[in-house]
Amino acid sequence: MPEMQTPLRPNLVQQAFDPDFFRHVGHQLIDQLADYFQAAQKGQTMAVMPWEKPDERTNHFQTLLEAAPDENAQDFFAYLIAQNIHTLHPHYLGHQVASPAPLNALADLLASAMNSGTGVYEMGSPMVAIERVLIKNLNRVLGYGPQADGFMTNGGTLGNLTALLTARQARQAREGLSSLPKPALMVSEAAHYCVDRASKVMGWGEAGLIKIPVDAQYQMRADLLPAYYEQALKEGKTIVAVVANACSTATGAYDNIEVIADFCEMHQIWLHVDGAHGAAVIFSDKYKKKVEGIHRADSVVIDFHKMLLTSALTTALLYKNGDDSYLTFSQQASYLWADDEEREWYNLGKRTFECTKSTLGLKAYLLWRTYGPDLFAQHIDYLYDLGHYFAEMIAQSDDFALPVAPQSNIICFRYCPTEVPKEELNALNSFMRETLITSGAFYIVQTQLAGQLYLRLTLISPFTTVATLEDLLQNLRALGQQYLLENRLLPH
Ligand SMILES: Cc1ncc(COP(=O)(O)O)c(C=O)c1O
Repeated sequence: MPEMQTPLRPNLVQQAFDPDFFRHVGHQLIDQLADYFQAAQKGQTMAVMPWEKPDERTNHFQTLLEAAPDENAQDFFAYLIAQNIHTLHPHYLGHQVASPAPLNALADLLASAMNSGTGVYEMGSPMVAIERVLIKNLNRVLGYGPQADGFMTNGGTLGNLTALLTARQARQAREGLSSLPKPALMVSEAAHYCVDRASKVMGWGEAGLIKIPVDAQYQMRADLLPAYYEQALKEGKTIVAVVANACSTATGAYDNIEVIADFCEMHQIWLHVDGAHGAAVIFSDKYKKKVEGIHRADSVVIDFHKMLLTSALTTALLYKNGDDSYLTFSQQASYLWADDEEREWYNLGKRTFECTKSTLGLKAYLLWRTYGPDLFAQHIDYLYDLGHYFAEMIAQSDDFALPVAPQSNIICFRYCPTEVPKEELNALNSFMRETLITSGAFYIVQTQLAGQLYLRLTLISPFTTVATLEDLLQNLRALGQQYLLENRLLPH
């Protein structure tokens, strides 16, 4: 052995692992977060979305990084907590992002400390087993039989892509082909854009995405499926899958799964349900009829990080026939597992897009274990009931209108007093939203329906109440009147 210097552990690395520093800063952070949870629930003194322009925000952090290294984490954390959007705030009514129950933060802390990989069993066996139990129980609640399976993955977008990749492999396997002639999907024109992306990622392009029109309720016109199917066959296309919305992103509309399933079964076509947002209603006795027939789908995506009080990303991809999930990717990786062909449920990386897969099931499992599945049911019932209540408030007002009766906790509406010309309504509502959100008073989003701009709410915080929604309408009215005055649109 040539003479060499023994490598010594560097000082800074030693310092980065100091347990006492961790204990001290960790206790401080838990206290900061507990205080924050208490304040955010009430939402009284904090802007729901503290607004600063993107470049100014960025400069702040660049300046901090250029200064000398600083161990004072408390002020840094305090800034992050105060300046972030507050999804827990009663006035958070924007995108479909959960108000996470506080236990999520503890589960993430633990998962990060252990850094378990869940693609390979050996790299995180308790986390893999937890994921298995979560999936099995979710399948039971959904109504799948014992042959069902699935796994957690990084978001609804990836879950939908993976399901569609499986559909393609399953069809190729059934037909004994290594590729399919002109593969295509049939999907509601109101589907989330990630389905479009999936078609592009698979190389199917525009021609591979057949959009089925929606009816006045924004539900897929399932009665048109046979005609579109015949036309596709005439063009030499292979319809690999139909994607049903449960529910759609823009208006929260649920497609009729039973009717779509009848069609798919008749033609032996894979049925995938994009339930990223709304398939969560499987937990609710009151609202599960919205997804009647979901157990007939070949695959279903459900995001816990939308309606199920779990922080991002926590997506379940479920398969009616668990064997299908092994078809998606077959890979040679002798450094990971001894037998590439063996169906080892516990080496999840054989079936997932991810190789290093983080701990994805722990948070939802912990909520389920701690409070029971009724936690999810109660939350959904509250949000959907509130959605219907709000719709009634709009219907009874004489200056707001709904484009469609809401079917979920997603509600579109707009301010349209009779005296305002129709061509002014888009600019008026756009002004109202922008002024409202940059003031920090409420966070809401907007969408376009039939060329018209609508304000869009997702009721997601457990702390939003009827009083919050009354307050919202008053704020919007005041902004609307301000716009009309400034633009001389009010009758004198
Ligand atoms: C219906 C639907 N599908 C898929 C997605 C994408 O899910 P994720 O944001 O988890 O990737 C969304 C997100 O809003 C959605 O509403």
